[in-house]
Amino acid sequence: MSLKMLPYNDVDFNTEKILQQLTLSSRALAELKGYANTIPNMHILINAVTINEAKDSSAIENIVTTHDDIYKVLTESGYKSENAKEVVDYRNAIWTGYELIKKDNFINTNTLVKIQEIIEHNKAGIRKLPGTELKNSKTGEVIYTPPQSEKEIRDYLKNLEDYINSNDNVDPLIKVCLIHYQFESIHPFYDGNGRTGRILNILYLVLNDLIDSPILYLSKYINETKQEYYKLFNECRNENKFENWILYLLRGIEITSKDTIELIKSIQLEMNNYKAEFKEKLPKIYSNELLESLFYEVYTKISYIEKACGVTRLTATSYLNQLEEIGLLESEKIGREKIYKNIRLIKLLAK
Ligand SMILES: Nc1ncnc2c1ncn2[C@@H]1O[C@H](COP(=O)(O)OP(=O)(O)O)[C@@H](O)[C@H]1O
Ligand SMILES: [Mg+2]
Repeated sequence: MSLKMLPYNDVDFNTEKILQQLTLSSRALAELKGYANTIPNMHILINAVTINEAKDSSAIENIVTTHDDIYKVLTESGYKSENAKEVVDYRNAIWTGYELIKKDNFINTNTLVKIQEIIEHNKAGIRKLPGTELKNSKTGEVIYTPPQSEKEIRDYLKNLEDYINSNDNVDPLIKVCLIHYQFESIHPFYDGNGRTGRILNILYLVLNDLIDSPILYLSKYINETKQEYYKLFNECRNENKFENWILYLLRGIEITSKDTIELIKSIQLEMNNYKAEFKEKLPKIYSNELLESLFYEVYTKISYIEKACGVTRLTATSYLNQLEEIGLLESEKIGREKIYKNIRLIKLLAK
């Protein structure tokens, strides 16, 4: 069966199960939105969860790396890790997408092309050559053949774009489920479709004011339930049954909203404890800028502290060494440069 255009008028989205789950998911997400609006240092938390999302979304595509590698690459100290670099670029793609929708207030084909371009580091754009097939990675069996010609792909994308920006009365949380399925089924690019599609999810939620900043990310949930994720795509396609897929993603929204609140709370708690210890043991060098910088960067280096605190290299070095002495940082040499790790924070992020 070839891919249907949206909206799927022949499908009932108002089943009892969906409506029940929708209530739970909406409530959890609203709570996250409300909670996020009350906390100071939001930029620190957004930064941390965005990196986690970049890591998990890449992991779904078998680009596996560690927090240690990612934060080392972020210090730009010459540390090399291909996979971590991919993750850092993916993080940049999330931000580019976010800035684009804040400026434009819509999502169109071009938005998606720009995001994918950053992920894949090439300008191949929408598929022009036929031959793309989704295969079972173990058996090599073809599971699904997405639309092949560029014209067809563009027509589906135009339809998706209209659906994304239309004001119908379908709940945006149900729409995001259909949008993700449709985008992955169009599979408009040679590669990077999974990751671009997962960025589209968060952008769509922000566009619809369900969340203000990009902090709800489903990739951890999807990665942990990967088999179901793939299986349900096929159920939608082969059986024209969408209920299980929608329930699956809605549950992801509920679980992830709750987990994100917990993560934010634990980071805040750690920041308060850290601050208390810092102030008590090193009152002469304590400053809010320094504390924030250690939590924003996670792994920092002398030049970052010079800039953040407006001090000389010598002073910055002395700050970091003193923090290491009291156990609030741990250093490691990369080439000729020393980086300093906020080990307590990284432990929370890597949980
Ligand atoms: N049977 C399927 N139907 C539709 N989409 C699928 C199916 N199986 C996998 N996908 C989607 O394709 C993505 C992988 O596509 P790919 O272009 O390789 O993305 P990436 O480069 O980000 O790895 C998966 O993450 C998933 O979202
Ligand atoms: Mg791929």
